[in-house]
Amino acid sequence: MEYNKIIFISLLAISVTKCDNCVTNDFGLNFYDSFTNGNPVCAGMATWSLGNYSVAGIESPHQETDLFITPDEDLSCISSYDFEMTAGGILEIYVYMDSKSQRDQIVALANEVSSTGKTIVTGTEILTPLNPDYFNGWHVLRLHLISNGIFSGYVSFLGVAAKESTVIIDSFRYIPPQYDNDCNVYDGEFVTSSPPVRPEPPESCVAYNFETDFETLFTSDSGVCAGFSKWDLYNYITVPVNHPSEESFQFIAPQSSISCISSFSFNAEAGGVVEVNVYMDSKTNTDQIAVLANKVADDNTDVVIGSTVLTPLNDNYADGWHVLRVTLSGNGKFNVFISFLGLGSAKSIVLVDSFRYISPTFSKEECQIYEDEKFETTTTVPITTVAPVGTGEECVTYNFEQDFENAFDTNNLLCSGYSTWHIGDYHSLSIDRIDPNSNTFIAPNDTSSCVSSFVFRMMPGGVVKVNTFMKSVSKLDYVIVLAKKRVPSGEDTVAGFTLYYASNANFVEGWNVLQVTVNDFTTFDGYITLLGSTSEDSIVLIDSFSYTPPNSDDTCEIY
Ligand SMILES: *[C@@H]1O[C@H](CO)[C@@H](O)[C@H](O)[C@H]1NC(C)=O
Ligand SMILES: *[C@@H]1O[C@H](CO)[C@@H](O)[C@H](O)[C@H]1NC(C)=O
Repeated sequence: MEYNKIIFISLLAISVTKCDNCVTNDFGLNFYDSFTNGNPVCAGMATWSLGNYSVAGIESPHQETDLFITPDEDLSCISSYDFEMTAGGILEIYVYMDSKSQRDQIVALANEVSSTGKTIVTGTEILTPLNPDYFNGWHVLRLHLISNGIFSGYVSFLGVAAKESTVIIDSFRYIPPQYDNDCNVYDGEFVTSSPPVRPEPPESCVAYNFETDFETLFTSDSGVCAGFSKWDLYNYITVPVNHPSEESFQFIAPQSSISCISSFSFNAEAGGVVEVNVYMDSKTNTDQIAVLANKVADDNTDVVIGSTVLTPLNDNYADGWHVLRVTLSGNGKFNVFISFLGLGSAKSIVLVDSFRYISPTFSKEECQIYEDEKFETTTTVPITTVAPVGTGEECVTYNFEQDFENAFDTNNLLCSGYSTWHIGDYHSLSIDRIDPNSNTFIAPNDTSSCVSSFVFRMMPGGVVKVNTFMKSVSKLDYVIVLAKKRVPSGEDTVAGFTLYYASNANFVEGWNVLQVTVNDFTTFDGYITLLGSTSEDSIVLIDSFSYTPPNSDDTCEIY
């Protein structure tokens, strides 16, 4: 009995849909006969006209069609013949717009003609470049028909096309509700343009405290962390450290060997600041936490755009809580993620409690990690900006004309034990300059001297050229150029070098270009280290240097 009832009901449903038809129109036949500009909706307006894709030089969306309709520069209107529609049905209009003016628009109206002859709008859709999601290309305007039951009606199109713009209706279709058969204008589905990918707006504040979702939000499988062991999540109960907030129960800590972990990515902008709340109670000098802010570049490679390191070797280091700050360098908006590279010996406590990103225009007070937060820094940690210059694929040049103190590590942190080079002026020497625009150079002290450059990105096969002048009276005069690779939590390695000694058989007095080819397996962030020595009456100086990317035709002019 029950079974029969179901069959009866479904038969009824089929018979209802049967009398309601799919309607399609591609303007291919009898446009001027079946469409009108003379009905009440369109009264007083200009009309739409028929266009031909091949004549207009526009690619047709389907081989079966070469006709479309387009509005005038003034508000234009056209209405279709009457056909039967049902409430709940869908009217789809296939349109193309390449807009050069904000006046451009297409308005589609589904009209019901009521039993008393009045026109009632039962659905409407508008395409205009003023829409915030607008993009040029193919669109489907989809009208869901309201009203009641089955009714007779027609569709009207209103539109404006500025002179330079392209505004087209290719076709439309009416699909009745619960319609099971194909209802296509052409064979196969209609293809629409996809909206261009828009960058997400940058965040104002991103705060994370390791209390939830650590496993899903953090990874050490890719980017800078690939190949390193991971940081682990711990509870404050396991360490004799007062948690920084009543809401803080968990932290992450590195292994006793170098380990690395990267955060989820988020949208940020240049000038924004990343603050990391860390605790260090150090028993050995190898303990360290490096914070790297990585920009996800368009080709999905990562570029370090800011970094800082906390180690017991920092000036004024003290055990306790520290806030490590990294300012994001570069320009504009981009996607970033934060990596922590570090190690903590078994007896030391090295941990990261939380971090936040604050955009350049946002206030720190409004970007809280905990409601009761109070991170008291034990000491101010000097901010070491070691963001690399360049991508490795472009020239890097430097000529010692300015900013030597900042561009070069004149405190010799990377050359400890050596004295530094000093700036000299060609006026004090009777030698020909390498370039008329060159006024200054660097020269070693009479002892062995060492100095390291700013960090820049190098690629395997890249060439570092150092312009050197040597007039030697002593066999001890020399210049050594090292291309070094930064190993954030280890010993930096040498990726290429050249030695130039006055005692060498190839020695030529005067100007020389010392060349170092970079040998490594991957692109890396590095710097050059210049070692030199000069006796009292000799002249040993370096005027400038350049880095030329591999296989480059660029001459990397310095002046
Ligand atoms: C469209 O233009 C092409 C090229 O002029 C022509 O061959 C074709 O017949 C036109 N189509 C219609 C329907 O007029
Ligand atoms: C050589 O190095 C020492 C120590 O860095 C410095 O005080 C001195 O001024 C340097 N000499 C010259 C000639 O720059």
